[in-house]
Amino acid sequence: SPDISVTNTKAHLDQLQAIATANGGNRYTGRSGYTASINYVKGKLDAAGFTTTVQSFSTSAGTTQNLIAELPGGDANNVVMLGGHLDSVSNGPGINDNGSGSAGVLEAALAYAASGQSAKNKLRVGFWGAEELGLLGSKYYMNSLSTAEKDKIRVYLNVDMIASPNPGYFVYDDNPAGNSARDEFTSYYTSKGIPWEYIDVQGRSDHAAFRSYGIPTAGIFSGAETLKTSAQAQKWGGTSGRAFDPCYHSSCDSVSNLDLTALDRNIDALGHMLWLYAAKDYGTTTPPA
Ligand code: PHE
Ligand code: ZN
Ligand code: CA
Ligand code: ZN
Ligand code: ZN
Repeated sequence: SPDISVTNTKAHLDQLQAIATANGGNRYTGRSGYTASINYVKGKLDAAGFTTTVQSFSTSAGTTQNLIAELPGGDANNVVMLGGHLDSVSNGPGINDNGSGSAGVLEAALAYAASGQSAKNKLRVGFWGAEELGLLGSKYYMNSLSTAEKDKIRVYLNVDMIASPNPGYFVYDDNPAGNSARDEFTSYYTSKGIPWEYIDVQGRSDHAAFRSYGIPTAGIFSGAETLKTSAQAQKWGGTSGRAFDPCYHSSCDSVSNLDLTALDRNIDALGHMLWLYAAKDYGTTTPPA
């Protein structure tokens, strides 16, 4: 598996922090810090040769955007997708939630492009707007696709909070028939000696719109407002009786609110999944035209 650079990923997070700091302390929907976040991620992907599309939609907080990027090449009938939300809440910079997932998806995609290999499948990444207003960007995106386009998406991996300061290693328990992505994540963690737990997050992040349509989904998560139990502190370290992320949705969700070991382990898990699914043989499952 590839080693996704935690140094590069942290540099993206430092840039998202600087964007928030220069724009009133947040990267909220409809505000300048969100637009600047889109421009930062788009600039990196454009420079690496991705084809980027900005999709605008309106919300009660103003007009906002999704950013979709594809790597040239690969079979467009078999789309492998990674994504996470790029917006923050209004009262903080949103560096763990979800700068961490955004930076991880970005760096994994850049690393794949830099590796020079050609993906068998079409690699697509999504950066969703207005998640904090009710998963609006991912819902808008799915509604914007024709049935034929939706049916080409073979897997969607969601990345929302992966560097919580008192981390756990949670894998979404999603496992509809024919979906092995959850098990690929858990066997990856097991192979690295990282204890993991399943978590039921059905309605709480951007995989929901994909899952509702019937697309195989999976995701990883290092924890939010829930308190770490003593059993969890024994297996993962950290502090029992304390939230996985005590700064969840707060002004202190800054670059000081990150566990870089959790970040590194989780971006390497994303790298593993990206390399695996980019090369996966979907055989004769190509949908009819
Ligand atoms: N989607 C939630 C938020 O952005 C966080 C979350 C992620 C909760 C994954 C559960 C599982 O606030
Ligand atoms: Zn691997
Ligand atoms: Ca790494
Ligand atoms: Zn949030
Ligand atoms: Zn989130």
